[in-house]
Formats: sequence, structure tokens, C-alpha cells
Amino acid sequence: MTRIVRKTTFGIIAFAALTALAVTPFAIAQNKAHEPLAALPPMPIPKDNPMTEANIALGKHLFFDARLSGDASISCADCHDPKLGWGDGSDLSRGYPGTMHWRNSQTVVNSGYLTKGWFWTSSAATLEAQAHSAIAGALAGNLKKALAEERMKQVPEYVRLFKEVWNAAPNYDQALASIAAYERTIISDDSPFDRYMRGEKSALSEAAVRGMALFEGKAGCAACHSGPLLTDQKFYNIGLPTNPAFTETIQRQIAFRERMRSSGFEEKDYLHLDRDPGRYRKTKKIEDIGKFRTPPLRYIKYTAPYMHNGVFFDLREVVEFYNKGGESEPFGNKSEKIKPLGLTEAEITDLIAFLDSLSGKELVVERPKSPPYGLLKFPMKGQW
Ligand code: HEC
Ligand code: HEC
Repeated sequence: MTRIVRKTTFGIIAFAALTALAVTPFAIAQNKAHEPLAALPPMPIPKDNPMTEANIALGKHLFFDARLSGDASISCADCHDPKLGWGDGSDLSRGYPGTMHWRNSQTVVNSGYLTKGWFWTSSAATLEAQAHSAIAGALAGNLKKALAEERMKQVPEYVRLFKEVWNAAPNYDQALASIAAYERTIISDDSPFDRYMRGEKSALSEAAVRGMALFEGKAGCAACHSGPLLTDQKFYNIGLPTNPAFTETIQRQIAFRERMRSSGFEEKDYLHLDRDPGRYRKTKKIEDIGKFRTPPLRYIKYTAPYMHNGVFFDLREVVEFYNKGGESEPFGNKSEKIKPLGLTEAEITDLIAFLDSLSGKELVVERPKSPPYGLLKFPMKGQW
């Protein structure tokens, strides 16, 4: 194999060179193989979903309203609780009543910044489409569109807000848009790391500065966790261990097997799986097996447990996992970038200090009281 490191005009080393050649992590850092780490830019806003006060207020109400679930008992905020890092605080998420989810509930903080898809395997193409999956999905909201619309139409405050924002009666598609508009306001950009990147050099401790050099150098983290969000939004199998809470909980196994079946897996295949096949579920390409999207690393101080299967409970466990080069995994598809790092105890501590610096103040929001139903008068025509 040749030892040529190809560079583009932007100085980016070709992916193939990174994986196939024995480039040391130090060389990777020197060559800036990754998109540079940076402070958070302004939130990108789609043109057809304006960030007006009324739109955001409507989206906020809907985010916290349990009537957007089939049995009217569970809202977005029950699995994305502001007091639990806007996740649900468990290794594996709760589910719609009677079910249990088989993946970890992701934080919604800064999720409006993602550009290449939402969920652990980027299976939803827009934030609006993600909200649809969350409301309609059997393991989350389990609510039909028509029922959602009739419920919203019997809430006078929703009738008023839809009129003001969309000049329309309460309807499902614009409800999704308003929820996404609200999510785009859930931003954490005041971390010590952001302040440091904006020029306040005293914002990071010496340990965190050393940790950042390791992150981009010897520890090789920035090969995948790069750019302002600390993710390249690409997919990797990093060789995680399984979580017994996944393999040994009947309801989670039921949910998982059902999902695999309805994604087109044949019985002979899905019955053998002892772990989530990740991106493969959607693409059915063997090279995608066990791959998940590199998650952003902002706000992680508040979002434990970590990974799609919630197998690690703190950042030390995460770093020790990477330091030993991950585990062997049965799909035989572990990324070549995951290998023993040889970090010393002091280096591990520094790396964790850097990871801690990626979170700012906790974003605590009091749950708003949902606007009450108010039975519309007959005939209903013309009231929205
Ligand atoms: C029963 C729990 C549950 C409910 C209810 C729920 N979610 Fe989620 N949410 C999850 C889980 C679990 C994931 C990850 C699932 C996956 O990757 O397959 C997730 C993922 C997400 C993501 C993706 C974040 C990222 O980094 O890609 C967003 C955004 C989100 N949810 C928003 C919402 C909204 C909006 C609602 C309400 C309309 C909602 N969720 C309702 C459990 C829930
Ligand atoms: C080969 C690409 C790659 C490299 C290198 C890498 N990561 Fe990751 N990281 C990922 C992926 C992919 C996940 C999600 C894996 C999953 O859930 O299956 C992840 C998950 C994480 C998480 C959990 C985040 C969450 O929200 O649950 C943390 C923390 C993390 N990585 C830190 C690091 C650190 C620190 C390093 C360097 C020692 C590192 N990563 C190196 C790709 C990478």
C-alpha cells in the first residue's frame, strides 16, 4: 500500500488515506484531516418555517402536550425532559405505554443544527419529518394524524395560534413545523469551549486545553467528532458491548424484533440478532451493519447514559472504552479508526476535562400548562 496522503484544495486528507494508511494520530492533527473544531454558529432556519414568537409559542405548547400521543398520556417532553438533559435519563428510553424502546433517547438540545438526518442512524431527513415519526411511531406517540387534528381543533388556544401563525385551522403538517421551530430555539452555545473558541482564552482550564490537543491528536477523537457540533454526521461501527437491559428485557426485545420485521428483515435473520444492526436496517448494505451516526458532543454533561444502547453511564467509562480500542464485535465491521490509544491516567483526566468543557449552563424550562380543551359550538364551520 502506498503512503501517499492526498490533499484536496481545502487541505482535507482523503478518507481512504486516513483509514488505509498508517498515519499516526499526531500526523492527522497536523494535517487538519477534520473540519476544524469551532464555536457554534447561528442556527440555520428554513425559509418556509419562520421563527416568529407565535410559531415558537405554539411549538412549545405542542412539545409539552400529552394529547399528541394516542392515549393522551405522553408528550415529547416525557422522553426529552428538560430536567434530564432533554433526554429521559435512562440507558434505554421508555416507550409508548405498554411498550419499551430499544434505543437511548437522544437530547434535543442543539439538534436543529444537524443537517444530514435525525435519529441514531439519521433515518429522518428533516427535523419536521422527525417530529412526524415521533408522534406517529408505535413506540413513541402512537397517534394518527386525523385524531391529532381533531384534538387540536377543540383547543381554543390552538385555534387562535394556528390562525395567527399559519392562517389556517389546526392541522398536522403545520403542527410538525411549529414543533421544529420551537426545537430550533433549544440551543446551548455558552460552553467554556465556545467562549474559548470566541477568543476568551481563560475560559478553558489548562487540563481542558491539554485535553483538546489529545482530542485532535493522540486520542484521534476529532477524526469523527469534528466541526462546531463535534460530529462529522457520518456512520461508524465503534465496537460497543451489548447492554443487558437490551438483551434481557422482554418488552425491549418485542419492540426490537417488531421493528426489524417491519423493516423487511426475514425471520431467519432478525431472530439471530443480539444487537442493533444500526444503519443497515435502512440501507440493507452489508458495509453499514452496526453503524451509527457520530453524535454531537455538546451538552453531554447532562445527557448520560451514552451511546445508542446507553451502555456507558459516565464519560470515564466512554474514554476507557476508546482507550482500549473498543471491543470485538460479531459483525466484523468495526471502524479501523478505533484502536488502542495508550492514553495514560493523566491524559484520560485531561481528555475528560475537555469533554466537560463542551457543556454550558443547564437549559431548564418549566413545563407550561397545556391549554385546556373548550368544546366548540355547533355548527363548527367557520370557527377556525
Ligand atoms: C417514548 C419516548 C419518546 C417520545 C414520546 C419522543 N421521543 Fe424523541 N426520541 C426518542 C428516542 C428513543 C430517540 C432515538 C430513536 C432512534 O434513534 O431510533 C429519539 C430521537 C429524537 C430526536 C433526534 C435527535 C438527534 O440527535 O438526531 C429528536 C429531534 C426528537 N426525538 C424529538 C422528539 C419530538 C419533537 C417528540 C414529540 C413530537 C419526541 N421526540 C417524542 C424517544 C422519544
Ligand atoms: C470512528 C469514529 C469515532 C471516533 C474516532 C470516536 N468516536 Fe465517539 N462516537 C462515534 C460514534 C459513531 C458514536 C455513537 C456510537 C453508537 O452509539 O453506536 C460515538 C459516541 C461517542 C460518545 C457518546 C455520545 C452520546 O451522546 O451518547 C462520546 C462521549 C464519544 N463518542 C466521545 C469520543 C471520544 C472522547 C473519542 C476519542 C477518544 C471518540 N469519541 C472517538 C464515532 C467516533
